[in-house]
Amino acid sequence: MKSSYLIANWKANKTPAEVAAWINTVAESWPKTSPHLEIVICVPFIHLDQINKSHLPFKIGTQDISPYPDGAYTGAISARMLEHQVHYALVGHSERRRYFHETNAEIALKVSQAINYQITPIVAVTPANWRAQLNALEATELSQCLIMYEPPEAISQQTGPAGVGEATPVDEVVVAIQALKEVSPASPVLYGGSVKSHNIDEYLNVPEIDGVVPGSASLNAKEWLEIVTIFQKIRG
Ligand code: PGA
Repeated sequence: MKSSYLIANWKANKTPAEVAAWINTVAESWPKTSPHLEIVICVPFIHLDQINKSHLPFKIGTQDISPYPDGAYTGAISARMLEHQVHYALVGHSERRRYFHETNAEIALKVSQAINYQITPIVAVTPANWRAQLNALEATELSQCLIMYEPPEAISQQTGPAGVGEATPVDEVVVAIQALKEVSPASPVLYGGSVKSHNIDEYLNVPEIDGVVPGSASLNAKEWLEIVTIFQKIRG
């Protein structure tokens, strides 16, 4: 495990042309980062090849993974298909639970599949249900996961009438993370929800928070570079 994590989540965004423009801007000004820091980009499946070929110095993750092995599962992307292409897979994001009706049992299967193929799961949990969400996982597998704590209302780009979310105050995040670490002491716990260049320092200045997960902020190459620079300055 690394000492600190910065994980971008692109969600359902970007055409291949937009990815190319993002890569160009990021490659021009990528700052030098310390080896004990882990920087990851979780991209849509169709962008994996393009991002891999960019040889930018960060790890690559997916935003989902099939709960099933290879086989007759139309539309699914299995862990074996992703092996050697990605280091991480985000699983159980509240948007997957909400819009795709994913259950804790399915998410546990996804975690097992990822671990079988040396892909580290980043398991997203929510304030109301985190205990049940973690208890659904095998204890030995949970200890190999990163945990992302994210209140759904903190997500910056809300779909539908909810509009714009607000970042969770740092003291509330710390209390939640302390409780999570009692259940899973071996897992790094990250915070997600409206992390931007203007507020990331608040979270990174607190040692209990092992890292952050910016979503929309990572889509803009300049904003992402700013975030990486602050991450390096505080945690490097
Ligand atoms: P946000 O999303 O930074 O746009 O709030 C984070 C996430 O949900 O992964």
